[in-house]
Amino acid sequence: MTDLSQKIKEITTEKSGVTRLTLTDYRNYPTLRIETDIEPIVITGENGSGKTNILESLSFLTPGRGLRGTKLSDIKRIGTSPFASIQKETEWSIAAEILKNNEHHSIGTALQKNIRETEETLQRFDRRIVKIDNQKITQQAELGKYISAIWVTPQMDRLFLGGPQPRRSFLDRLVYAFDLEHAKRTANFEHLYRQWYQLIKSGHNDHHWLSSLEADMSALGVAIAAARREQIARLNTFITNEPDDIFPDVKLELDGLIEKKLDTEPAIEVEDFYTAHLAQQRQNILYNDSIDGVNRTDFRVYFKKKDLPAELCSTGEQKALLISIILAQTKCQILHQSFAPILLLDEVTTHLDEKKRDALLQKILELNLQAWITSTEPQNFTALNGKARFFKLENNNLFC
Ligand SMILES: Nc1ncnc2c1ncn2[C@@H]1O[C@H](COP(=O)(O)OP(=O)(O)OP(=O)(O)O)[C@@H](O)[C@H]1O
Ligand SMILES: [Mg+2]
Repeated sequence: MTDLSQKIKEITTEKSGVTRLTLTDYRNYPTLRIETDIEPIVITGENGSGKTNILESLSFLTPGRGLRGTKLSDIKRIGTSPFASIQKETEWSIAAEILKNNEHHSIGTALQKNIRETEETLQRFDRRIVKIDNQKITQQAELGKYISAIWVTPQMDRLFLGGPQPRRSFLDRLVYAFDLEHAKRTANFEHLYRQWYQLIKSGHNDHHWLSSLEADMSALGVAIAAARREQIARLNTFITNEPDDIFPDVKLELDGLIEKKLDTEPAIEVEDFYTAHLAQQRQNILYNDSIDGVNRTDFRVYFKKKDLPAELCSTGEQKALLISIILAQTKCQILHQSFAPILLLDEVTTHLDEKKRDALLQKILELNLQAWITSTEPQNFTALNGKARFFKLENNNLFC
Protein backbone atom coordinates (compact mmCIF):
# COMPACT_ATOMS: atom_id res chain seq x y z
CA MET A 1 0.00 0.00 0.00
CA THR A 2 1.39 3.43 -0.96
CA ASP A 3 1.73 6.25 1.58
CA LEU A 4 -1.20 8.09 0.00
CA SER A 5 -3.49 5.03 0.10
CA GLN A 6 -2.52 4.58 3.76
CA LYS A 7 -3.39 8.23 4.48
CA ILE A 8 -6.75 7.89 2.67
CA LYS A 9 -7.52 4.82 4.79
CA GLU A 10 -6.71 6.71 8.00
CA ILE A 11 -8.98 9.63 7.05
CA THR A 12 -11.92 7.41 6.10
CA THR A 13 -11.85 5.47 9.36
CA GLU A 14 -13.76 8.53 10.56
CA LYS A 15 -17.18 8.33 8.95
CA SER A 16 -18.70 10.98 6.71
CA GLY A 17 -22.02 10.83 4.89
CA VAL A 18 -25.77 10.94 5.29
CA THR A 19 -27.44 8.91 8.05
CA ARG A 20 -31.00 10.13 7.58
CA LEU A 21 -32.78 11.72 4.63
CA THR A 22 -36.34 13.05 4.72
CA LEU A 23 -38.04 14.37 1.60
CA THR A 24 -41.33 16.27 1.53
CA ASP A 25 -43.25 17.01 -1.67
CA TYR A 26 -40.09 16.23 -3.59
CA ARG A 27 -40.79 15.12 -7.19
CA ASN A 28 -42.62 11.73 -7.00
CA TYR A 29 -42.36 11.59 -3.20
CA PRO A 30 -45.13 13.08 -1.01
CA THR A 31 -42.83 12.04 1.79
CA LEU A 32 -39.88 9.68 2.07
CA ARG A 33 -37.55 8.83 4.91
CA ILE A 34 -34.34 6.82 4.66
CA GLU A 35 -32.13 5.84 7.58
CA THR A 36 -28.80 4.26 6.87
CA ASP A 37 -25.19 3.88 7.92
CA ILE A 38 -22.05 5.09 6.21
CA GLU A 39 -21.79 2.25 3.74
CA PRO A 40 -22.56 1.59 0.09
CA ILE A 41 -26.31 1.84 -0.54
CA VAL A 42 -27.80 0.13 -3.57
CA ILE A 43 -31.22 1.36 -4.67
CA THR A 44 -32.93 -0.67 -7.36
CA GLY A 45 -36.32 -0.27 -9.01
CA GLU A 46 -38.09 -0.10 -12.32
CA ASN A 47 -37.81 2.83 -14.70
CA GLY A 48 -39.59 5.82 -13.20
CA SER A 49 -39.62 4.39 -9.67
CA GLY A 50 -37.72 7.39 -8.27
CA LYS A 51 -34.07 6.30 -8.05
CA THR A 52 -32.50 9.35 -9.67
CA ASN A 53 -34.79 11.63 -7.66
CA ILE A 54 -33.23 10.32 -4.44
CA LEU A 55 -29.71 10.97 -5.74
CA GLU A 56 -30.77 14.40 -6.94
CA SER A 57 -32.13 15.25 -3.48
CA LEU A 58 -28.78 14.24 -1.94
CA SER A 59 -26.98 16.50 -4.43
CA PHE A 60 -29.00 19.41 -3.01
CA LEU A 61 -27.10 19.01 0.26
CA THR A 62 -24.28 20.72 -1.67
CA PRO A 63 -24.30 24.18 -3.32
CA GLY A 64 -25.95 24.70 -6.70
CA ARG A 65 -28.87 23.36 -8.68
CA GLY A 66 -28.38 19.66 -8.11
CA LEU A 67 -27.22 16.87 -10.37
CA ARG A 68 -29.84 17.62 -13.02
CA GLY A 69 -29.10 21.38 -12.98
CA THR A 70 -32.84 21.77 -12.79
CA LYS A 71 -35.23 24.69 -12.35
CA LEU A 72 -35.97 24.64 -8.62
CA SER A 73 -39.73 25.05 -9.07
CA ASP A 74 -39.86 21.88 -11.27
CA ILE A 75 -39.00 19.78 -8.23
CA LYS A 76 -42.25 20.50 -6.41
CA ARG A 77 -44.35 17.39 -6.43
CA ILE A 78 -47.07 17.46 -9.05
CA GLY A 79 -50.20 15.68 -7.85
CA THR A 80 -52.57 15.82 -4.91
CA SER A 81 -50.67 16.34 -1.73
CA PRO A 82 -51.66 14.69 1.55
CA PHE A 83 -50.65 18.03 3.04
CA ALA A 84 -52.93 20.07 0.76
CA SER A 85 -55.02 21.42 3.62
CA ILE A 86 -51.95 22.68 5.50
CA GLN A 87 -50.80 26.19 4.66
CA LYS A 88 -47.13 25.60 3.85
CA GLU A 89 -44.30 28.07 3.50
CA THR A 90 -42.18 25.74 1.42
CA GLU A 91 -42.76 24.16 -1.96
CA TRP A 92 -40.51 21.16 -1.26
CA SER A 93 -38.00 20.33 1.41
CA ILE A 94 -35.07 18.06 2.20
CA ALA A 95 -33.85 17.38 5.72
CA ALA A 96 -30.74 15.36 6.43
CA GLU A 97 -28.74 14.18 9.37
CA ILE A 98 -25.12 13.86 8.38
CA LEU A 99 -21.81 12.80 9.82
CA LYS A 100 -18.63 14.68 9.11
CA ASN A 101 -15.71 12.72 10.50
CA ASN A 102 -18.03 11.17 13.12
CA GLU A 103 -19.45 14.58 14.12
CA HIS A 104 -23.25 14.94 13.82
CA HIS A 105 -24.81 17.86 11.92
CA SER A 106 -28.18 18.61 10.40
CA ILE A 107 -28.76 20.16 7.00
CA GLY A 108 -32.09 21.41 5.75
CA THR A 109 -32.89 22.94 2.39
CA ALA A 110 -36.19 23.97 0.87
CA LEU A 111 -37.76 26.10 -1.78
CA GLN A 112 -39.47 28.89 0.06
CA LYS A 113 -42.32 30.99 -1.29
CA ASN A 114 -41.67 34.69 -0.89
CA ILE A 115 -43.56 37.88 -1.67
CA ARG A 116 -41.81 41.07 -2.69
CA GLU A 117 -43.75 44.31 -2.41
CA THR A 118 -43.13 46.82 -5.18
CA GLU A 119 -44.87 50.20 -5.54
CA GLU A 120 -47.64 48.79 -7.71
CA THR A 121 -47.82 45.04 -7.16
CA LEU A 122 -46.98 42.13 -4.94
CA GLN A 123 -44.46 39.88 -6.71
CA ARG A 124 -44.15 36.22 -5.83
CA PHE A 125 -40.75 34.57 -6.08
CA ASP A 126 -39.14 31.32 -4.94
CA ARG A 127 -35.85 31.06 -3.11
CA ARG A 128 -33.79 28.10 -1.97
CA ILE A 129 -33.09 28.42 1.73
CA VAL A 130 -30.40 26.43 3.55
CA LYS A 131 -30.00 25.68 7.24
CA ILE A 132 -27.01 24.08 8.89
CA ASP A 133 -27.56 22.90 12.46
CA ASN A 134 -30.85 24.86 12.42
CA GLN A 135 -29.12 28.15 11.58
CA LYS A 136 -30.10 29.80 8.32
CA ILE A 137 -27.06 30.50 6.16
CA THR A 138 -26.77 33.07 3.41
CA GLN A 139 -23.88 31.57 1.43
CA GLN A 140 -24.53 28.09 0.01
CA ALA A 141 -20.74 27.64 -0.24
CA GLU A 142 -20.82 27.05 3.57
CA LEU A 143 -22.32 23.61 2.85
CA GLY A 144 -18.99 22.56 1.37
CA LYS A 145 -17.44 22.61 4.85
CA TYR A 146 -19.83 19.85 5.99
CA ILE A 147 -20.55 17.62 3.05
CA SER A 148 -19.28 17.06 -0.43
CA ALA A 149 -20.78 14.98 -3.25
CA ILE A 150 -19.35 13.64 -6.50
CA TRP A 151 -21.80 12.30 -9.03
CA VAL A 152 -21.89 10.23 -12.19
CA THR A 153 -25.14 10.28 -14.17
CA PRO A 154 -26.23 8.61 -17.42
CA GLN A 155 -26.10 12.02 -19.15
CA MET A 156 -22.35 12.04 -18.46
CA ASP A 157 -21.93 8.96 -20.70
CA ARG A 158 -21.77 11.53 -23.52
CA LEU A 159 -19.52 13.97 -21.67
CA PHE A 160 -16.61 13.62 -24.09
CA LEU A 161 -18.81 13.98 -27.17
CA GLY A 162 -20.65 17.11 -28.22
CA GLY A 163 -20.20 20.71 -27.11
CA PRO A 164 -17.91 21.98 -24.33
CA GLN A 165 -20.54 23.38 -21.92
CA PRO A 166 -21.23 20.14 -19.95
CA ARG A 167 -17.47 19.42 -19.79
CA ARG A 168 -16.80 22.93 -18.48
CA SER A 169 -19.50 22.55 -15.80
CA PHE A 170 -18.08 19.15 -14.86
CA LEU A 171 -14.60 20.64 -14.55
CA ASP A 172 -15.88 23.56 -12.47
CA ARG A 173 -17.58 21.15 -10.07
CA LEU A 174 -14.26 19.34 -9.63
CA VAL A 175 -12.70 22.70 -8.75
CA TYR A 176 -15.43 23.75 -6.22
CA ALA A 177 -14.43 21.00 -3.83
CA PHE A 178 -10.96 22.49 -3.51
CA ASP A 179 -11.89 26.13 -3.77
CA LEU A 180 -15.28 26.97 -2.27
CA GLU A 181 -15.13 30.47 -3.79
CA HIS A 182 -14.93 29.08 -7.33
CA ALA A 183 -18.72 28.64 -7.62
CA LYS A 184 -19.29 32.22 -6.58
CA ARG A 185 -16.67 33.48 -9.04
CA THR A 186 -18.13 31.60 -12.01
CA ALA A 187 -21.67 32.79 -11.13
CA ASN A 188 -20.45 36.39 -10.75
CA PHE A 189 -18.55 36.20 -14.04
CA GLU A 190 -21.67 35.01 -15.87
CA HIS A 191 -23.73 37.75 -14.26
CA LEU A 192 -21.25 40.47 -15.30
CA TYR A 193 -20.93 38.99 -18.78
CA ARG A 194 -24.72 39.13 -19.28
CA GLN A 195 -24.78 42.73 -18.04
CA TRP A 196 -21.92 43.67 -20.39
CA TYR A 197 -23.58 41.93 -23.34
CA GLN A 198 -26.97 43.59 -22.72
CA LEU A 199 -25.34 46.99 -22.38
CA ILE A 200 -23.55 46.65 -25.73
CA LYS A 201 -26.62 45.17 -27.42
CA SER A 202 -28.82 48.02 -26.24
CA GLY A 203 -26.41 50.46 -27.94
CA HIS A 204 -25.82 52.13 -24.59
CA ASN A 205 -22.12 52.74 -25.14
CA ASP A 206 -21.18 54.10 -21.75
CA HIS A 207 -17.40 53.66 -21.98
CA HIS A 208 -16.76 53.99 -18.23
CA TRP A 209 -19.42 51.47 -17.32
CA LEU A 210 -18.21 48.98 -19.95
CA SER A 211 -14.55 49.43 -18.88
CA SER A 212 -15.42 48.86 -15.27
CA LEU A 213 -17.33 45.64 -16.14
CA GLU A 214 -14.38 44.49 -18.31
CA ALA A 215 -11.90 45.07 -15.47
CA ASP A 216 -14.10 43.11 -13.02
CA MET A 217 -14.63 40.29 -15.52
CA SER A 218 -10.93 39.94 -16.27
CA ALA A 219 -10.00 39.82 -12.57
CA LEU A 220 -12.60 37.12 -11.95
CA GLY A 221 -11.73 35.34 -15.20
CA VAL A 222 -8.05 35.04 -14.36
CA ALA A 223 -8.91 33.68 -10.89
CA ILE A 224 -11.28 31.12 -12.49
CA ALA A 225 -8.65 30.07 -15.04
CA ALA A 226 -5.96 29.76 -12.36
CA ALA A 227 -8.18 27.55 -10.16
CA ARG A 228 -8.98 25.29 -13.14
CA ARG A 229 -5.30 24.95 -14.04
CA GLU A 230 -4.46 24.04 -10.47
CA GLN A 231 -7.13 21.34 -10.39
CA ILE A 232 -6.09 19.81 -13.71
CA ALA A 233 -2.44 19.76 -12.56
CA ARG A 234 -3.46 18.18 -9.24
CA LEU A 235 -5.40 15.39 -10.94
CA ASN A 236 -2.70 14.73 -13.58
CA THR A 237 -0.02 14.49 -10.90
CA PHE A 238 -2.17 12.19 -8.78
CA ILE A 239 -2.96 9.88 -11.72
CA THR A 240 0.73 9.70 -12.72
CA ASN A 241 1.86 8.92 -9.17
CA GLU A 242 -1.00 6.56 -8.22
CA PRO A 243 -2.05 4.76 -11.41
CA ASP A 244 -5.11 2.55 -11.09
CA ASP A 245 -4.72 -1.19 -11.70
CA ILE A 246 -7.98 -1.58 -13.65
CA PHE A 247 -9.25 1.79 -14.84
CA PRO A 248 -7.17 3.45 -17.59
CA ASP A 249 -4.71 6.25 -16.98
CA VAL A 250 -6.00 9.54 -18.29
CA LYS A 251 -4.29 12.74 -19.21
CA LEU A 252 -6.30 15.93 -18.78
CA GLU A 253 -5.65 19.07 -20.76
CA LEU A 254 -7.21 22.50 -20.55
CA ASP A 255 -8.12 24.27 -23.74
CA GLY A 256 -8.87 27.90 -23.03
CA LEU A 257 -7.46 31.23 -24.14
CA ILE A 258 -6.87 32.60 -20.63
CA GLU A 259 -5.75 29.27 -19.13
CA LYS A 260 -3.16 28.92 -21.95
CA LYS A 261 -1.86 32.46 -21.41
CA LEU A 262 -1.25 31.61 -17.75
CA ASP A 263 1.21 28.91 -18.91
CA THR A 264 3.66 31.58 -20.00
CA GLU A 265 2.69 34.92 -18.44
CA PRO A 266 2.17 36.19 -14.89
CA ALA A 267 -1.46 36.61 -13.77
CA ILE A 268 -1.24 40.39 -13.62
CA GLU A 269 -0.28 40.58 -17.31
CA VAL A 270 -2.94 38.09 -18.32
CA GLU A 271 -5.48 40.26 -16.51
CA ASP A 272 -4.41 43.31 -18.54
CA PHE A 273 -4.58 41.24 -21.71
CA TYR A 274 -8.09 39.99 -20.83
CA THR A 275 -9.36 43.52 -20.12
CA ALA A 276 -8.00 44.78 -23.46
CA HIS A 277 -9.33 41.68 -25.27
CA LEU A 278 -12.86 42.26 -23.92
CA ALA A 279 -12.72 45.96 -24.90
CA GLN A 280 -11.61 45.02 -28.43
CA GLN A 281 -14.41 42.51 -28.79
CA ARG A 282 -17.24 44.91 -27.89
CA GLN A 283 -18.46 45.04 -31.48
CA ASN A 284 -17.89 41.35 -32.29
CA ILE A 285 -20.11 40.24 -29.43
CA LEU A 286 -23.14 41.33 -31.43
CA TYR A 287 -22.28 38.82 -34.17
CA ASN A 288 -21.05 35.90 -32.01
CA ASP A 289 -22.88 34.17 -29.17
CA SER A 290 -19.92 34.68 -26.90
CA ILE A 291 -16.34 35.71 -27.32
CA ASP A 292 -13.26 33.72 -26.40
CA GLY A 293 -12.50 33.65 -22.70
CA VAL A 294 -13.14 31.60 -19.56
CA ASN A 295 -16.78 31.12 -20.54
CA ARG A 296 -15.61 29.22 -23.65
CA THR A 297 -12.94 27.03 -22.04
CA ASP A 298 -12.97 23.32 -22.81
CA PHE A 299 -11.00 20.47 -21.37
CA ARG A 300 -9.75 17.40 -23.16
CA VAL A 301 -9.25 13.91 -21.88
CA TYR A 302 -6.82 11.39 -23.36
CA PHE A 303 -6.54 7.63 -22.92
CA LYS A 304 -2.84 7.75 -22.03
CA LYS A 305 -1.75 4.24 -23.01
CA LYS A 306 -3.46 4.45 -26.40
CA ASP A 307 -2.62 8.12 -26.85
CA LEU A 308 -6.19 8.64 -28.06
CA PRO A 309 -8.57 11.49 -27.28
CA ALA A 310 -11.56 10.28 -25.25
CA GLU A 311 -14.04 11.15 -27.99
CA LEU A 312 -12.42 8.51 -30.25
CA CYS A 313 -12.63 5.80 -27.57
CA SER A 314 -15.41 3.19 -27.37
CA THR A 315 -18.49 3.81 -25.22
CA GLY A 316 -17.24 1.50 -22.45
CA GLU A 317 -13.74 3.01 -22.64
CA GLN A 318 -15.22 6.50 -22.28
CA LYS A 319 -17.13 5.36 -19.19
CA ALA A 320 -13.93 3.84 -17.77
CA LEU A 321 -12.04 7.11 -18.42
CA LEU A 322 -14.78 9.05 -16.63
CA ILE A 323 -14.56 6.68 -13.66
CA SER A 324 -10.76 7.10 -13.60
CA ILE A 325 -11.24 10.86 -13.23
CA ILE A 326 -13.93 10.41 -10.56
CA LEU A 327 -11.77 7.98 -8.55
CA ALA A 328 -8.77 10.31 -8.70
CA GLN A 329 -10.94 13.28 -7.72
CA THR A 330 -12.44 11.31 -4.81
CA LYS A 331 -9.02 10.37 -3.47
CA CYS A 332 -7.60 13.89 -3.94
CA GLN A 333 -10.64 15.32 -2.14
CA ILE A 334 -10.26 12.98 0.82
CA LEU A 335 -6.61 14.00 1.13
CA HIS A 336 -7.31 17.71 0.69
CA GLN A 337 -10.50 18.13 2.75
CA SER A 338 -9.68 15.45 5.33
CA PHE A 339 -13.19 14.05 5.00
CA ALA A 340 -14.74 11.71 2.48
CA PRO A 341 -17.26 12.91 -0.11
CA ILE A 342 -20.41 10.90 -0.79
CA LEU A 343 -20.58 9.31 -4.23
CA LEU A 344 -23.86 9.51 -6.14
CA LEU A 345 -23.64 6.87 -8.86
CA ASP A 346 -26.69 6.76 -11.10
CA GLU A 347 -26.71 3.65 -13.33
CA VAL A 348 -22.91 3.76 -13.12
CA THR A 349 -22.39 0.18 -14.25
CA THR A 350 -23.99 0.74 -17.68
CA HIS A 351 -21.42 0.07 -20.48
CA LEU A 352 -18.89 -1.48 -18.05
CA ASP A 353 -17.83 -5.09 -18.60
CA GLU A 354 -18.11 -7.50 -15.66
CA LYS A 355 -14.45 -7.14 -14.66
CA LYS A 356 -14.63 -3.34 -14.50
CA ARG A 357 -18.05 -3.37 -12.82
CA ASP A 358 -16.88 -5.65 -10.00
CA ALA A 359 -13.57 -3.74 -9.74
CA LEU A 360 -15.47 -0.47 -9.30
CA LEU A 361 -17.63 -1.96 -6.52
CA GLN A 362 -14.50 -3.36 -4.86
CA LYS A 363 -12.80 0.06 -5.02
CA ILE A 364 -15.85 1.69 -3.44
CA LEU A 365 -15.63 -0.81 -0.57
CA GLU A 366 -11.89 -0.17 -0.19
CA LEU A 367 -12.43 3.59 -0.08
CA ASN A 368 -14.69 2.98 2.92
CA LEU A 369 -17.02 5.84 2.07
CA GLN A 370 -20.72 6.24 1.45
CA ALA A 371 -21.75 5.56 -2.14
CA TRP A 372 -25.38 5.76 -3.24
CA ILE A 373 -25.71 3.47 -6.24
CA THR A 374 -28.84 3.08 -8.36
CA SER A 375 -29.72 0.51 -10.96
CA THR A 376 -32.59 -1.28 -12.64
CA GLU A 377 -30.51 -4.47 -12.42
CA PRO A 378 -30.09 -5.79 -8.84
CA GLN A 379 -28.19 -8.86 -10.12
CA ASN A 380 -25.22 -6.62 -11.06
CA PHE A 381 -24.35 -6.04 -7.40
CA THR A 382 -23.69 -9.51 -6.02
CA ALA A 383 -20.10 -8.36 -5.34
CA LEU A 384 -21.59 -6.15 -2.60
CA ASN A 385 -23.67 -8.88 -0.93
CA GLY A 386 -23.33 -8.61 2.84
CA LYS A 387 -21.25 -5.44 2.47
CA ALA A 388 -23.87 -2.89 1.43
CA ARG A 389 -27.43 -1.85 2.24
CA PHE A 390 -29.92 -2.88 -0.44
CA PHE A 391 -33.22 -1.06 -0.99
CA LYS A 392 -35.93 -1.66 -3.56
CA LEU A 393 -38.24 1.14 -4.68
CA GLU A 394 -41.91 0.42 -5.28
CA ASN A 395 -44.90 2.75 -5.26
CA ASN A 396 -42.80 5.66 -3.95
CA ASN A 397 -41.65 3.58 -0.96
CA LEU A 398 -38.32 1.97 -0.13
CA PHE A 399 -38.19 -1.65 0.97
CA CYS A 400 -35.18 -3.45 2.43
N1 LIG B 1 -42.22 17.46 -9.98
C1 LIG B 1 -42.60 16.19 -10.08
N2 LIG B 1 -43.75 15.77 -9.51
C2 LIG B 1 -44.14 14.48 -9.58
N3 LIG B 1 -43.44 13.52 -10.21
C3 LIG B 1 -42.28 13.88 -10.80
C4 LIG B 1 -41.80 15.22 -10.77
N4 LIG B 1 -40.63 15.28 -11.43
C5 LIG B 1 -40.39 14.03 -11.87
N5 LIG B 1 -41.37 13.17 -11.49
C6 LIG B 1 -41.50 11.72 -11.75
O1 LIG B 1 -40.71 11.00 -10.84
C7 LIG B 1 -40.61 9.67 -11.35
C8 LIG B 1 -39.28 9.07 -10.97
O2 LIG B 1 -38.23 9.72 -11.69
P1 LIG B 1 -36.73 9.23 -11.61
O3 LIG B 1 -35.99 9.96 -12.65
O4 LIG B 1 -36.25 9.32 -10.22
O5 LIG B 1 -36.91 7.68 -12.00
P2 LIG B 1 -35.80 6.55 -12.07
O6 LIG B 1 -36.18 5.48 -11.09
O7 LIG B 1 -34.45 7.13 -11.95
O8 LIG B 1 -36.06 5.98 -13.54
P3 LIG B 1 -35.03 5.45 -14.66
O9 LIG B 1 -34.72 4.01 -14.32
O10 LIG B 1 -35.82 5.54 -15.91
O11 LIG B 1 -33.83 6.33 -14.65
C9 LIG B 1 -40.85 9.78 -12.85
O12 LIG B 1 -42.04 9.08 -13.18
C10 LIG B 1 -41.00 11.26 -13.09
O13 LIG B 1 -41.92 11.54 -14.10
MG1 LIG C 1 -32.90 7.35 -13.28
